[in-house]
Amino acid sequence: MPVIEITHPLVQHKLGLMRQVDTSTKGFRELAAEIACLLTCEATRDLETEPVTVQGWAGPVEVRRIAGRMITLVPILRAGLGMLEGALDLIPGAKVSVVGLQRDETTHHPRAYYANLVDDLAERTALVLDPMLATGGSLAACCDLLRAAGCRRIKALCLVAAPEGLALMAARHPEVAIHVAAIDRCLNENAYILPGLGDAGDRIFGTR
Ligand code: PRP
Ligand code: URA
Repeated sequence: MPVIEITHPLVQHKLGLMRQVDTSTKGFRELAAEIACLLTCEATRDLETEPVTVQGWAGPVEVRRIAGRMITLVPILRAGLGMLEGALDLIPGAKVSVVGLQRDETTHHPRAYYANLVDDLAERTALVLDPMLATGGSLAACCDLLRAAGCRRIKALCLVAAPEGLALMAARHPEVAIHVAAIDRCLNENAYILPGLGDAGDRIFGTR
């Protein structure tokens, strides 16, 4: 399973700011969107383009454009919404498929409560947006759901991943490439990532 850690200085700098406990809700939200934008750029390096001739200022000129229907963005509710705006900044025309998963606080298993997917999933690459890859249960469940709906190509964009979550994804969805800003140390007894960001959903939405 390809795991691509984005070591770009801007990503590392912004993630460092997100790790600070006193970063405001506004700051955390903005940084999540900015890193999502940079991860989207990396994750779409292999998009196919085709030549097309347009009328330029000095006559016809051959340029390149993205070929065909390519992407659906898949934010996992709720924290994944914090990455959606940043991804849409780069791909403003992308169709969005929304998946709702809630991790049980005791078992840490995800419960699916919502899914509204584009109907031509088989023709698109799904870019799943979820800031935290902790046990990996939520991302794996989202990939199960996308596969069952006909999706053939999935990539995941995460801010922080734990080794435990990467191992689960390698076992259940080895074909899914994971683009991540940092691979952290481990999970704590509540399955939170250390050093991590804390509860990303709460920090993005200002709850708790
Ligand atoms: C968080 C996070 C991921 C999930 C990661 O969501 O946004 O979706 O936990 O944990 P896992 O890898 O162990 O499954 P949560 O269920 O807390 O919901 P929220 O986004 O609504 O806060
Ligand atoms: N969900 C979060 O928001 N943070 C973690 O560290 C783990 C799951």
